[in-house]
Amino acid sequence: MQETMETTQAMIDHLAAVNKILEKNNYSEARLIPILQEVQAVYKYLSKDMISYVATSIGVPPSRVYGVATFYAHFSLQPKGRHIIKLCDGTACHVKKSHGILNALYEKLNLSADKRTTDDLLFTIETVSCLGACGLAPVMVVDEDVYGQVTPEQACEVVDKLIAGEKAAK
Ligand code: FES
Repeated sequence: MQETMETTQAMIDHLAAVNKILEKNNYSEARLIPILQEVQAVYKYLSKDMISYVATSIGVPPSRVYGVATFYAHFSLQPKGRHIIKLCDGTACHVKKSHGILNALYEKLNLSADKRTTDDLLFTIETVSCLGACGLAPVMVVDEDVYGQVTPEQACEVVDKLIAGEKAAK
């Protein structure tokens, strides 16, 4: 029950944030991309409901908003985890065995190339091309933190610390 109330409150907070974004952008179709960027920053992805809500609010068909959201790779229509792990698989990192880190993280979080977000929505693993720090290869970025010359063991330790932090926060 407590959880349901918190979930409802979280939804109300999110909608209030989205309404502010819409208002700031004058409910303008011409501002659709910045609106979607800001909405995604709040939700971490664009749900079907949110696409319909934005479309209705700015007075365009949902298919128009959906078309924009699917055209740009930047937008995600799938939920993402609270912590985003970006693992570089550019040439320098690949040569330094970034795939070993990726496999260790997949195994630790029970994920795969086809399932990149944990069921508890705590983690999403993304592979990216060069992060521009090849001298530090292999490179992993977790949320805002950059880890260079990282080993599979160190990558798993970072995840363990985040899990411990999440538990402590409950
Ligand atoms: S290839 Fe990984 S940072 Fe450049």
